[in-house]
Amino acid sequence: MVTYGIIIVLAYLIGSIPSGLIVGKVFHGIDIREHGSGNLGGTNSFRTLGIKSGMAVTIADILKGTIAVLLPIIFCPDMHPLIAGVFAVIGHMYPIFAGFKGGKAVATSGGILLGYAFPMFLIMVLVFFVCLYITKYVSLASMLAAVVSVIYSLIVWDIPLIIVCAILAFFVIYRHRANIQRIINKNEPKIKWL
Ligand code: G3P
Repeated sequence: MVTYGIIIVLAYLIGSIPSGLIVGKVFHGIDIREHGSGNLGGTNSFRTLGIKSGMAVTIADILKGTIAVLLPIIFCPDMHPLIAGVFAVIGHMYPIFAGFKGGKAVATSGGILLGYAFPMFLIMVLVFFVCLYITKYVSLASMLAAVVSVIYSLIVWDIPLIIVCAILAFFVIYRHRANIQRIINKNEPKIKWL
C-alpha cells in the first residue's frame, strides 16, 4: 500500500515537470503561458518557441506519461500501470511546480499509450495526423484521437484501458473548452506547416 502511494506521488511529480516552462525560460527567456494560446504544452511551444523547442517539449511531455506507467511495471507489479499514468496526466494539467497551470493532457496521455499499448499509440498518432492534415486544427486532432482511443479500447475490451481512456478523453475535452469555443467561432488558429 505504501509503495502504491509512493508511485502515485512520484507519477504526479513527474507529470508536474513543466517542460514548456523550463524550455521557454531557459532557452528563450519567456513564460509561454503569457504567449500564444497560454497553454503549457507542445503545440504552444511550437507556436511560441519554434520547431526545435516545440519538439523537445512534446517529447518530454510524452515521456512523462511513459515513465509513469513504467514505474509500477518495474517497482510494483501488483499495481495497474495505467493508475500511475493517470496521475502523471493530472500532474501535467495541474503541475505543483508551475502554480497548477499546465497543459491539456494530450502528449502525456499519448506517452501512457506508448508505454502501455504501443500498437494503440501508433493508431492514435495516425488518427491525430490524418485529422490534423485535413483540418489543420491541433486541438480537434487531439480531441478526435482521445475519442477514438475510447472506441478502440471498447473494441479490444480491456476494462482498465476503457476506464482510463474514458477518463483521459474527458480530461482532454474538458481542457480544450476554449479551443472548442474558438472552433465554433471560427477563430481557432490553424497550423501552417502541414
Ligand atoms: O495539445 C494541446 C493542443 O491540442 C492545443 O493547444 O495551444 O492550440 O491550445 P493550443
